[in-house]
Amino acid sequence: MPVPFIITLDGPAGVGKSSLAKRLADRFEIAYLDTGAMFRGTAWKLGEGSWEWSEERLKEGLDSLEFALSGSGSNSVLSLNGIPLTDEIRTETVGMWASNMARIPAVREYQKIAQRGIGHTTSLIAEGRDMGTVIFPQAACKFFLDADLEERAHRRFLQLQEMGKPADLAELTEQIRVRDEQDRNRKVAPLRPAEDAIIVDTTRLDIHGVFERLVEEVKKIYD
Ligand code: DC
Repeated sequence: MPVPFIITLDGPAGVGKSSLAKRLADRFEIAYLDTGAMFRGTAWKLGEGSWEWSEERLKEGLDSLEFALSGSGSNSVLSLNGIPLTDEIRTETVGMWASNMARIPAVREYQKIAQRGIGHTTSLIAEGRDMGTVIFPQAACKFFLDADLEERAHRRFLQLQEMGKPADLAELTEQIRVRDEQDRNRKVAPLRPAEDAIIVDTTRLDIHGVFERLVEEVKKIYD
């Protein structure tokens, strides 16, 4: 078994990555790294429009940020400058800010160093867009999840409702469509499956079915 042991979980918005990643992290007793939260935290901390700053100002802003991961399983806690990130970053508006940030090469470079730094010492289930392709190409096990846009928007709608952040389904569908298009078509580290990723279309599967499928794959190499 490689140490640290890394599992990557990539896919578009609302596909169910976070709930699956947390469950997998509990099942295999390793930490859970939500890299979307790192992009969201960056955009939220530096503020609206920071993706349009000059290179120098942005670099200064990035240098003022420090991410850390503690705990394990679904109790893993991602902190920014010593303070755990909260649901404040979970709105679709901050999601779009994060996607805007994520197009900038200097931001991706900063995130790459921070994410690899965490994965260097800690066994992880790492969730995001480029985990299997760019950040952890050596990962022991790579998954890419997909689902139809309508299904993903509906899942995200329910998730936001659960957090007490009601949304309009039609508006949410359009926001996710635009964000995905930007994430798939950017020049640096676009959203796409790694060549050796296991691709799972979850549109017609419930989370338990997908979870069992992923567990079976991981158990082939780790348990
Ligand atoms: O997974 P999420 O919805 O929290 O991610 C928010 C945005 O961050 C997403 O639209 C694109 C960006 N992102 C990225 O470019 N690379 C990652 N590994 C994770 C997120």
